[in-house]
Amino acid sequence: MGEVLIRPYLKNDRAFVRDIAWKTAFMGEPADAFFADREIFSDFLTAYFTDYEPESCFVAQDDKNVVGYLIGCKNTRNLNKTFLIRILPLLSVRLVIRKALFKKKNIVFLAHCLTSFFKGEFKMPRLPGNAQATFHINIKNGFRGQGIGSRLLLVFLDYLKKYGAKTVYMSTMSDKSGLFFESRGFGRFYRASRSYFRYILGRNITVDTFVKQF
Ligand SMILES: CC(C)(COP(=O)(O)OP(=O)(O)OC[C@H]1O[C@@H](n2cnc3c(N)ncnc32)[C@H](O)[C@@H]1OP(=O)(O)O)[C@@H](O)C(=O)NCCC(=O)NCCS
Repeated sequence: MGEVLIRPYLKNDRAFVRDIAWKTAFMGEPADAFFADREIFSDFLTAYFTDYEPESCFVAQDDKNVVGYLIGCKNTRNLNKTFLIRILPLLSVRLVIRKALFKKKNIVFLAHCLTSFFKGEFKMPRLPGNAQATFHINIKNGFRGQGIGSRLLLVFLDYLKKYGAKTVYMSTMSDKSGLFFESRGFGRFYRASRSYFRYILGRNITVDTFVKQF
């Protein structure tokens, strides 16, 4: 393996980012454990970041391929607005056109998400600070534990500081990655128990939200 370079995201990286996102979405395992349309779910996970705010995205590249990414957003108000007005309608249409809405696996997953939503499991106390940045970070299996995530995070935090962001937050289902963020200046802000994967795992998952203030 050659030296890994950290650099700004480019349009050509889109397919690599979506591939890693899909292959690791279920606690490090592929999302086809619970969803049956790769394109739609990859859009859900990454489209805002790669298509509407690419300047806040960074990738790690080895000799040829992207092996990790940090896809970010400077202010979640933009993310929420764009998601509601542009991405969600497109996803809804694609769910129908691609017949994904009629697949049993997807119906079961969406039904569990809706139940979880109506039980109030997605509620969270108001985050501190006005302009809240956020991000997702993901390093391909086989490349973790080699300092790549730390380097990507440093580049992104530096970018946010230059922009003037006051707070940044992120959520994770993984205890191991929680320790990674705590040792890099993030504090655990909120812990939620969610039931939408109970039908697969037989237990609720814990989602921790971490915050860092500049
Ligand atoms: C969490 C993650 C981004 C860290 O990046 P990384 O390149 O593996 O981490 P680094 O090599 O820079 O630093 C190593 C640290 O990460 C921690 N770590 C967390 N998850 C890890 C994993 N799956 N493998 C190896 N190290 C991991 C190590 O314990 C170590 O902590 P320490 O430095 O406090 O002792 C990366 O492991 C990952 O993509 N994990 C799966 C996806 C995920 O959980 N993303 C976060 C939620 S969006």
